[in-house]
Amino acid sequence: MSHMSMPALPRSGFTFSKEHLVVAVPVAVVAAVGGFLVSHYLNGRSCKKGLVNTCISKDSPKVVHSFDMEDIATKAVYCRCWKSKKFPFCDGAHTKHNEETGDNVGPLIIKKKDA
Ligand code: FES
Repeated sequence: MSHMSMPALPRSGFTFSKEHLVVAVPVAVVAAVGGFLVSHYLNGRSCKKGLVNTCISKDSPKVVHSFDMEDIATKAVYCRCWKSKKFPFCDGAHTKHNEETGDNVGPLIIKKKDA
């Protein structure tokens, strides 16, 4: 078997020195910490998993209400906080819920244009 030598690669002129590490390591650490903090901040803004409905028709696999548009007189106010004692209609319980939790939920209001 003959011995073949590899051609020499041209030198790029770049050498990695201790001075490069002095700059590169802090930059990498700052980038990693910054990435972690941004990720943590964005995750905190996303929806959290958990029950929305804590007490209404819990024996039912799915709580669904259906109304015909013709049956809505001039205005209907539907609960979206799931705290109303008159669910699916809003009874104002969202105000207490918002005060206690810092949430910002409110009802769905459907009304005729002239109402
Ligand atoms: S009581 Fe639930 S939105 Fe008003």
